[in-house]
Amino acid sequence: MEFDNNTLKGLLAKLEWQLNMGVEAMIEEKNNNYFYQEKTKIINEDNTKKLETSQKSSFSKFDTETIEKKSDHREMLKNCFTLDDLKTYMLNFNGCDLKKTATQLVFSDGNPKSQVMIIGEAPGAEEDRRGIPFCGASGQLLDKMLNSISLDRNKVYITNVIPWRPPGNRTPNENEISLMKPFLMRHIEIVSPKLLVAVGGSSAKAILNIDGGILRHRGVWKEIKLRDGLEIPIIATLHPAYLLRAPNQKKLAWEDLKLIRSKLEEFNGQ
Ligand code: URA
Repeated sequence: MEFDNNTLKGLLAKLEWQLNMGVEAMIEEKNNNYFYQEKTKIINEDNTKKLETSQKSSFSKFDTETIEKKSDHREMLKNCFTLDDLKTYMLNFNGCDLKKTATQLVFSDGNPKSQVMIIGEAPGAEEDRRGIPFCGASGQLLDKMLNSISLDRNKVYITNVIPWRPPGNRTPNENEISLMKPFLMRHIEIVSPKLLVAVGGSSAKAILNIDGGILRHRGVWKEIKLRDGLEIPIIATLHPAYLLRAPNQKKLAWEDLKLIRSKLEEFNGQ
């Protein structure tokens, strides 16, 4: 297709206007994201290789085709026994549209052997670019919050309810959350932490099935029961992105952090 100079200038002006308005992704009804398709091909080729070589894993018998055909992935998830199994399964899972506009899967960060598992909402722009949860501005505040109770990324394990960035950082909707919840629950079962911290309203709602805002539910220990019967204490706290917008609420977050510190002291007999 050829354009004359005036048409080209007009198109460039429109594009510039859209960029200035914050447009980050073009979403059409039909999936026409060639960049994504190319990337998926590379990821799938890479994973096929990994699946071929990792005969040790019980999960290795499943390939992308099997995962896509299988509608009941809850059952399939039972066959993920390790974090590698789960990550490979998620890399091959194409049932969530958020994957189409995201750059990559943001799986986890931190130490999977730690006692504390932190669960955020969904990756933002920086997390999407780097593939690491909480590595942007709110992550820096989260690190400071952890440091204030002598924790850091070697002493906690971090993931999100949603592993792909929602376009424009919108809040994930209920369908997306319920679709990805079984993955999160399997993630928790595999890590099997001593305690969980739900960071922000979406995370608290997803895990605890609660109504109402985070301010009503934060700062109280509850328990979730996993499929194997294991009960894990969980506390909800304010999201660092919210605290960056409302710094006067930091005192509430500090109350929650102190509760986490006390619980850890209880576990460790201090
Ligand atoms: N906010 C989240 O909830 N998770 C991230 O990983 C980054 C920002």
